[in-house]
Amino acid sequence: MRTLKLAFILTLSLVMISCGGDKKKEEKEKVKIGTKKQSTSTSSDKEIDVKITGNDQMQFNVKVIRVKEGQEVTVTLQHVGKMAVNIMGHNFVLLKQGTDINTFGSEASAAKEADYIPNDGKDVIAHTKMIGGGDTTSVTFMAPAKGEYDFICSFPGHYALMQGKFIVE
Ligand code: CO
Repeated sequence: MRTLKLAFILTLSLVMISCGGDKKKEEKEKVKIGTKKQSTSTSSDKEIDVKITGNDQMQFNVKVIRVKEGQEVTVTLQHVGKMAVNIMGHNFVLLKQGTDINTFGSEASAAKEADYIPNDGKDVIAHTKMIGGGDTTSVTFMAPAKGEYDFICSFPGHYALMQGKFIVE
C-alpha cells in the first residue's frame, strides 16, 4: 500500500515536472508528505531523505523515523527556533544499539569541546553538528542493520525530551 502511494506521488511529481509544472503545487505535495508524524519523503529504494525539525521548546517534530536496510539515509535537521546554539542547541545523534541514553546523555553534557559527542564517537552511528535557531544541517550515512535504534539531541539536558526511534526495516 505504501509502495503504491509512493509510486503515485512519484508519478504525480513526474507529470508536474514534465508539464513544466506548477511549482507551488509540487511543493505543497512535499509539505504534505513532510508533515506526517513519522518520517518523510523518499526518493528511491537506494536513498531516503528524512527531514526533521527542532524548536525552542526542546522538541523534535518527529518521534519515529523509518528507513530500509541498505538505503543511503540523509537526515536534515532544521532548527525552527530563534535561540542561540549555546542556549538551545540541537543536533541529531543516532546511537548504536545497546547504548544507554542516560549514560550517553550525561557523558555528552561533559563533552562540550567535542560538540557534545563523547568518547570519540564510539557509541554513535551518525550525527550532525550542533546548530542554533534558524540553522539547518544534515548528515548522510548508510542505514545500519535491521532493528530499532535511538536518536537524540545530545545538548546538555535535551535527551530526556528530544529522543525518538530510528527503525530500519
Ligand atoms: Co537540543
